[in-house]
Amino acid sequence: MRKITKIDIITRPEKLEELKEALNAIAVTGMTVTQVFGCGLQKGHTEVYRGQEVHVTLLPMVKIEVVVCEVPVEKVVDTAKRVCRTGKVGDGKIFVYPLENAVRIRTGEEGDIAIMDPKS
Ligand SMILES: Nc1ncnc2c1ncn2[C@@H]1O[C@H](COP(=O)(O)OP(=O)(O)OP(=O)(O)O)[C@@H](O)[C@H]1O
Ligand SMILES: [Mg+2]
Repeated sequence: MRKITKIDIITRPEKLEELKEALNAIAVTGMTVTQVFGCGLQKGHTEVYRGQEVHVTLLPMVKIEVVVCEVPVEKVVDTAKRVCRTGKVGDGKIFVYPLENAVRIRTGEEGDIAIMDPKS
């Protein structure tokens, strides 16, 4: 069984559409997208609300989870870096994990073939 890797990309919601398209373009076959709240090193930021300064700890972000075996991990990471980088704080984070197993429920297939395109 070939190595399977999970990549989580947590980034600005406004980058979702472009990232989705860029991942499709490098033949990523599936993804899970969740609206999340998070903070990084800055622990949120300060916004002015009705003349008052309000400290917002958790900012809305989007999490894109991708599991790959054929598509190189580097290619996914590089794509996310290219699309999501504005250079300002809060561009997001990428987390990479080894994945123990994957199962395609319909067929019972496990491991790398569970996430491979049957046509390829
Ligand atoms: N240590 C962490 N553990 C879990 N999630 C994290 C961690 N750091 C960041 N995140 C997630 O990543 C999102 C984006 O973080 P962010 O880009 O602000 O990171 P940062 O380390 O503060 O970098 P920057 O200086 O570019 O802002 C957060 O909203 C949070 O969801
Ligand atoms: Mg930050």
